[in-house]
Formats: sequence, structure tokens, C-alpha cells
Amino acid sequence: MATDTATAAARPVERVLAGTDRRRHVLDLDDFTADEITAVLDDAAAMREVLGRDVKKVPTLRGRVIVTLFYEASTRTRISFEEAGKILSADVINMTATASSVEKGESLLNTGLTLQAMGVDAIVVRHPHSGAPNFLARSLSNVAIINAGDGAHAHPTQGLLDLYTAREHLGEIAGRKVVIVGDVLHSRVARSAVWGFAHLGAEVVLSGPPTLLPDPFTPGGWGAAADNGIHNPLANVRLQPDLDAAIEEADLVMALRLQTERQQRGFFPSIREYIRRWQVNDQRMAQANANALLMHPGPMNEGIEVSTALAHGERSLIEEQVTNGVAIRMALLYQLVGHGSGAD
Ligand code: CP
Repeated sequence: MATDTATAAARPVERVLAGTDRRRHVLDLDDFTADEITAVLDDAAAMREVLGRDVKKVPTLRGRVIVTLFYEASTRTRISFEEAGKILSADVINMTATASSVEKGESLLNTGLTLQAMGVDAIVVRHPHSGAPNFLARSLSNVAIINAGDGAHAHPTQGLLDLYTAREHLGEIAGRKVVIVGDVLHSRVARSAVWGFAHLGAEVVLSGPPTLLPDPFTPGGWGAAADNGIHNPLANVRLQPDLDAAIEEADLVMALRLQTERQQRGFFPSIREYIRRWQVNDQRMAQANANALLMHPGPMNEGIEVSTALAHGERSLIEEQVTNGVAIRMALLYQLVGHGSGAD
């Protein structure tokens, strides 16, 4: 564990106060600074200490109301936000689109305005359309919006928990080689992870079938806007479709889920071919650095993008990522809606 992380972990939760320049929303990691990411990770380290207590309850967000508004299925993100809010003593209300007036045709805007009128402090939203959380953030004046995954755009809280998990094991992220492999084209996880690791100075290599490997730097690509001629956080991001070449000297390998539900045409010849060329397994990890680690955001297609032995082996951080997801979401809720709740 890095020294700064250990120090943060020793701080009592009542003291993990963000500065006064709090952000209002978490929509992606592209607009985070390295310092801001580090502050979230440090706060999450203190939240991990709370998670380790016999009685996992602190009064930090007493009187705050958080709604989870999910238009897509989720296990990890939704439940960890609910757990995070409840541990911090917020009132957490779960709303699924299928059991709400969305079924009667109510729009996202009117759903958001309705929740705002009820006085909720934060909406954690997952939506199949890229940009839906940004739209809510622009439309609602009194509610913090947290993006829990929007289309193929972004999944910033996943990116932050990935960074936290990586920092716990690698210490410094700067200079580390991170390989992200698989269905990058459809992966909001990959986009947020790339921004996060790039902001902290990692070398990031994207690997996978060329058809699932968009070049972020083509005109209009999601990374093109980063190159402002002064500082381009994505300067150390590159593409290498050949996984055997990409994985050499890697410190961390992140396998992505094949998102068959978002694929309308065949992007590779067969699953068998995909496994042969891009599955992350023990043989491939042998070409990485000796202590290289595996991450996967979940849910896994076990035996396809990652082998069962590796997924459940000693290099795997997959379950730790889930635990850290609760701490990261506690830290974000605290930073966004803790102000004035009596926590500080
Ligand atoms: N990683 C992730 O977003 O998982 P869920 O879909 O289960 O929330």
C-alpha cells in the first residue's frame, strides 16, 4: 500500500473533508484533475476503514436523500451506491424505470424534475443513452447528478474504483503500464479508465480485435479534444491489437466484458477465435511483469474474455474492486452532498 494511502486510511471518517471547491456532479473523468482524483482516492481510503468496522454506520449524510435511478440492469453499481448511502446514514430510494411512471411514457426530464421537486439531494443515474446524465445535470438546478454508466460513453465511478484498487497494489500509478483489452468500442468502463489512468500518468495500451478498437484520436474521436497543444493527458495512450505484444511488461491488465447486447453485427469471426487471440489467461499473463495484476469491471463472461483460473487466482483483484466500489461511492456521495449535513 502506498504511504499516502496508508496515511489517509488512518484519518477518522469525520475528518475526511473535501475543500470548499466541491464539484456538483460526477459525469465522467475527462474533466477531473489528477489532484481531484487523488483527493477522492484518499477519502475512499478513509471510507474503507469504516467498511472494516463491526458496526458499519456513521452519521455523515443524515438528513440527505439519494435516489438511484436505473434504466439498465446493474448489480455492483446500484447495490454499492445503496450500501454506501446507507452506511453514511443517508436515506436511499431505489427507482427502477420498469416499476415507475417511465413505463407510462414519462420523460427523463420530467422524471428528474419530479425527483427534484421532492427535495432529493442526489440522483445516481444509469441510462442506455450516452449523455443522459449530462442532460439531467444541465436541466436540474438543485440536485447532484452522478453518472452510474451512460450508453457507451462513461462510467466514472467504476474508473475511480479501478484507480483506487490499482493504487493500493502498485503504489504510484505514474509510469505503470496498463493494458485494457477487449470490447473497447462499446465500453464506457474503458473510456473512464483511460481518462483516469492517463490523468495519473500511466502508460495505457488498448488491445482487442481491430473492429472493437476505436482510435480515440481520429477527428471527432473521444480523445481528440484532449490535445489542446499544451497538455494532452492521453499522450501516453496507444493501440496495439496484438495482445501478446501489448501485454509485454504490463503491470496491470484489465479485461473488458464482451458487450453482445450492444453489438448489432459480427465484430470478429467467432467466440472461439476471440478466445484464442484475446482471452486474458495465465499463459498470456506470463508475458507481463512478474507481479502483474488482473482487473475486470464485471459482470464477467467467464471463460471468454478471461479464463476461470486467472479470474479466481491470486493475481485477480476482481472481488477487491467490488469492495473498493463501496468505498469510492461513499467518498463521492460525501464530497457531493455532505456539505452542510453536519458532517463538517
Ligand atoms: N461494473 C458494473 O458496472 O457492474 P454492474 O453492471 O453490475 O453495475
